[in-house]
Amino acid sequence: MPKIRVLSGMRPTGPLHLGHLHGVLKNWLELQEKYECFYFIADWHALTTEYENPGNISEFSKELFLEWLSVGLCPQKSTLFIQSAIKEHAELHLLFSMIVPVPWLERNPSYKEMLQNIQNRDLNTYGFLGYPVLQASDILIYKAQKVPVGLDQVPHLELTREIARRFNYLYKVDYFPEPEPILSEVPKIPGIDGRKMSKSYGNAIFLNDPPDEVREKVMSYITDTLRPKKSDPGDPENRCVAFNLIKIYFSDEEREQIVKDCKRAILGCVECKKRLADKIIFELEKIWEKRREIEKEDWREMLYKGVETAREIAHQTIEEVNVIIFRKKIL
Ligand code: TRP
Repeated sequence: MPKIRVLSGMRPTGPLHLGHLHGVLKNWLELQEKYECFYFIADWHALTTEYENPGNISEFSKELFLEWLSVGLCPQKSTLFIQSAIKEHAELHLLFSMIVPVPWLERNPSYKEMLQNIQNRDLNTYGFLGYPVLQASDILIYKAQKVPVGLDQVPHLELTREIARRFNYLYKVDYFPEPEPILSEVPKIPGIDGRKMSKSYGNAIFLNDPPDEVREKVMSYITDTLRPKKSDPGDPENRCVAFNLIKIYFSDEEREQIVKDCKRAILGCVECKKRLADKIIFELEKIWEKRREIEKEDWREMLYKGVETAREIAHQTIEEVNVIIFRKKIL
């Protein structure tokens, strides 16, 4: 039985934080043990919004790759590559652009939302409208069956399925599979202000923050605001922002003890957050250690190898697609 093929991508728009680690990467790590996984750096997708200021994309891409390796994505297990190295994605994007009706793109909820919410740049571009067409190309060029994504990406994946269907219908083939999302339960990762952790909110703990900064950020988490003094009993499960992190970083037993001691006003927030910071730093230290190792290795070669593997498959697909559309080759 051939393994099921899984594919996902990440846009290189800045350093990774704990939200990425627990919300995305831990899931990718699990998948790489079971499936044939393709993970790529979506630098062309980054360009759709950063085209006025593309200077950082290549540095972010390199960083992203090093962070992936540091958290345990493994070139021996998964194919890790960068989108712009595989021009076949662009060719498939072009071919799809011929068959995708513009209204499919205009009514995409993520598209409408972003056009409205992002005021500081002009997203009325051809490329941005076509964002999900490029995404469909990324997925279908490898005929991936499963795509681990967040809920926000579900409309894009639905469009990918529609594009696959339309291609198969127009050219009377059963060629592209209809990929399905993998929507795993992901823990909510709050930032220090209680909102979702995000670089743009300025509330994130980054994987490459120095230990002192991690500690400082953890200590500034909002805890139970109805518990101004240690001697007041707390209600961590309902009122403490940091509790979502406690659930991740402590064992069930430890967590139950923390809840008890908080409710009985024995454990104060300062002490509790100190312990949490220790746990987070302990985990990050392993990542930092791996990072130091990786930097001594030839990581560029690892990226090249991923690119080569991906390219071979992408190339085969694009050849077949051209034959399907044009019936025969001209040259
Ligand atoms: N749009 C995705 C995001 O912002 C990134 C992405 C690009 C992607 N191409 C993809 C994800 C293909 C999954 C499959 O997160």
